[in-house]
Amino acid sequence: MKEWKGILREFQEFLPVTEKTPITTLGEGNTPLVLVNGLAQAIGFHGKLYLKNEGANAGTNSFKDRGMTVTVSKALEEDAKAIICASTGNTLAAAAAYAAAAQNAGMKLRCIGILPEQKVAAGKLSQALRFGAKVIRVRGSFDAALEVARYLAKNYPVTLVNSINPYRIEGQKTAAFEIWEQLGGRPPDYHFIPVGNGGNITAYWKGYREYKENWNRMAEGYKKLAPKMGVFEPMDPVQFLPKMMGYQAAGAAPIVRGERIERPKTFASAIRIGNPTFWNEAVAASSESGGKIDMVTDGEIRKAYDLIPELTGIFCEPASAACVAGLIKALQNEEMENTSDTVVVCTLTGNGLKDPTSARRGMSEPILFGADPGKIARFLQLV
Ligand code: F0G
Repeated sequence: MKEWKGILREFQEFLPVTEKTPITTLGEGNTPLVLVNGLAQAIGFHGKLYLKNEGANAGTNSFKDRGMTVTVSKALEEDAKAIICASTGNTLAAAAAYAAAAQNAGMKLRCIGILPEQKVAAGKLSQALRFGAKVIRVRGSFDAALEVARYLAKNYPVTLVNSINPYRIEGQKTAAFEIWEQLGGRPPDYHFIPVGNGGNITAYWKGYREYKENWNRMAEGYKKLAPKMGVFEPMDPVQFLPKMMGYQAAGAAPIVRGERIERPKTFASAIRIGNPTFWNEAVAASSESGGKIDMVTDGEIRKAYDLIPELTGIFCEPASAACVAGLIKALQNEEMENTSDTVVVCTLTGNGLKDPTSARRGMSEPILFGADPGKIARFLQLV
């Protein structure tokens, strides 16, 4: 069995890693791309629907692990002693984990997290605290927390690890490389993704473009070599890139509404953001690719959040479900191709266990019985 060594080692040629970089990894990346025919059928999609299960990341069960392995490794290379981030939960969980992991190589790195006033999901906070981060909350939304984190990083010896830090995007783009390979050497026709601060859609778009260039360079090389060697299956150059389809929550949709939202509202707390850092880049990714940035209501997100686990066996957090809600909307509004050849990937950004409160809402407590198999069999309608 080939061991997966984490994205920094596996995609070294695409990342800013040098001989001096103390690689801090938890084995992140290499997440499953799962074909989900049952879900496709339920939502009236006739093509091939895949979920990129980023909740399966080996660090802290969200896509943030990809960016954080690069960011923390580079911070250590640059001799940082402390890192700081504002977060709706996942960024902090990942920052805290990789800061703790620095000790695996005998290094020390403090981690500070600034959270918004409104509660972040319990699983994410538990991760951050268990990894030993110093965590505070500030009055206001994520956007206020980010201003505080930026100020502290500018004025004190502490490295900002929010996605303004370019190493984050570099790490996150590797998910696009994996999808390309997992689809057998091509991108999907459409890529659906939730949008909060806009970093991840920016990262995927960068990843797809870089991989296409690299792929086509290799394909040209193979074409020249193939006749001489007589053994190669020549690779085909790829002519297209996916349409990037980004989805905000309707109560936190500054890009769609064209204005900052002072008090963003949505139960999908990870994307409760009113003034995205990557506003322009997210718009560019959607428009350059021929996709769009749209919004979905909390009701639509909830419906997707309910459907996905029951029909696929994959449990994601509410924010992740926003992209499937977006796919349902795009299908209903006939905004996309829907043939047997259409290939769609949805990124499920974080694991469902991150947010146990949302997970349990609307679900009843299991009934307690005496240990009486007959009674239980009747209740279960097994007889
Ligand atoms: N999905 C999840 C699970 C997230 O945690 C986030 C962002 C997003 C989607 C949106 O990604 O911001 O790159 O557009 N979470 C950040 C955090 C804000 O602090 O954990 P984006």
